[in-house]
Amino acid sequence: MSGLAKKNVVLGVTGGIAAYKAAELCRLLVKSGARVRVVMTDAAKRFIGPLTMQTLSGAPVADDLFAETPGGAEGEGDGGIGHIQLGDEADVIVVAPATADTIARLAGGRADDLLGAVILASRAPVLLAPAMNVNMWGNPLTQQNLGKLVALGRFRTVGPDAGELACGWVGEGRLIDPTEILAAAERLFVKGPSEGPLNLPRDGAYEPSSHAPTRLTPQDLLGRKIVVTAGPTFEPIDDVRFIGNRSSGKMGFALAAAAARRGAEVTLIAGPVALATPIGAGITRRDVETAEQMRAALAAAVPGADAIVMAAAVGDFRPVSRAPGKLSRRARPAEALRELALVANPDLLAELGRARVGGRPLLIGFAAETGGDGAAQLSRARAKLVDKGCDAVVLNDVGAPGIGFGGDDNAVTLLFADGAQESLPRAPKTDLADALWDRLAPKLRDVGPRTEPARRTRRATVMRPVIAIGARGRGRRG
Ligand code: PMT
Repeated sequence: MSGLAKKNVVLGVTGGIAAYKAAELCRLLVKSGARVRVVMTDAAKRFIGPLTMQTLSGAPVADDLFAETPGGAEGEGDGGIGHIQLGDEADVIVVAPATADTIARLAGGRADDLLGAVILASRAPVLLAPAMNVNMWGNPLTQQNLGKLVALGRFRTVGPDAGELACGWVGEGRLIDPTEILAAAERLFVKGPSEGPLNLPRDGAYEPSSHAPTRLTPQDLLGRKIVVTAGPTFEPIDDVRFIGNRSSGKMGFALAAAAARRGAEVTLIAGPVALATPIGAGITRRDVETAEQMRAALAAAVPGADAIVMAAAVGDFRPVSRAPGKLSRRARPAEALRELALVANPDLLAELGRARVGGRPLLIGFAAETGGDGAAQLSRARAKLVDKGCDAVVLNDVGAPGIGFGGDDNAVTLLFADGAQESLPRAPKTDLADALWDRLAPKLRDVGPRTEPARRTRRATVMRPVIAIGARGRGRRG
């Protein structure tokens, strides 16, 4: 059952070209079992007819600040105050699209239209799905306004997406797909490391610190391009067998998801794992199988990147050659496997370290260590940091029970090139991912400014631009 079932959702529609997509969002919300009340600004009504929204939501559209009932006209009703009632009843307010002007007005606490008044009068969490021109989106004023709202603990954002914009520019600013807005609204009611129940009490004073979710998602990676590798590599022996390792991809996927939540545009290069792509804006997934394929995917993704995180367990060796078909026991007796000839794979992290210019991109490696005491592991991890030219290395003891490969938890020590180090105790990988970004995001200041939006085009141009020997057949790609 959807987390939105029987929830009162106020859907605020504001005046941008993406307003037509609010119709699809409204349909999805209703389908998820939510009771939807649509509030439209005057500008929104120039882009999409209230009748469409009324038909889809099954309730009158509210657009009049002075109406006494949420759907009624001025002077109608029982003496109530429409915007107060809407605000009081709301379990969540979703504003899609949220224009730059709407964000500015909300940040200014304006209540001179119905949507502003409802939001100001309500204690419900607000999910903003921004949509606007790329330069409006990148404008520090818009970002400051958004930052101000997010810092309150009551406002969350989802999107925008990058791509062709109606105004002829390409870049960030497109309304994110309605299915993603729905998923983000549902997540508000699910407890998690960075997103938790945001239902604020209807009585008592509003104190962001006490009612805020367990943790706010800072937007400190907004505009950053981040490449994350995750999972194992499979190095083929024949067409059905491979040399692999026990990495599940969970650590890398958690880092990618956290980076995207914090505003980054993420390329997630995944080895063969059974994980679905994290839901959220800004994750492009590239599936690979071998170290060589991961190398090629990195070569394509790294130009323009602000940071690379190598959480993948890249195979250090591969068979010299891949036998065609399936090696037969009879044709090739088991003893012959002892003769399986291996060759070293390239060290991708070391290659990235050598290719860096002026400390860009920020380069984060992992060190999977086993055996020895903590001090020995630390010194091996620090040697990796230096040899591979990283800015930081995340050490995890993959021999310790319950952490490292495969599990949901990890415990790490973060080592920096300047000698600093910090241990982060055992926690779910999803939590650790955010804890790591808390410490890594400030380092991005050293790699220079955020990515510039795409230049103007005549018309929109598409910007889219521990060895285990296993056999295939396990797992599922998401
Ligand atoms: O995927 P999970 O099940 O969640 O498990 C997470 C993890 C244990 C795989 C992860 O936390 C981790 O430790 N990843 C790195 C595993 C690894 O290969 O460690 P390493 O110490 O062998 O390599 C050091 C670094 O060099 C790593 O960043 C690795 O990506 C990189 N490397 C290694 C070999 C190689 N040929 N090329 C590389 O780039």
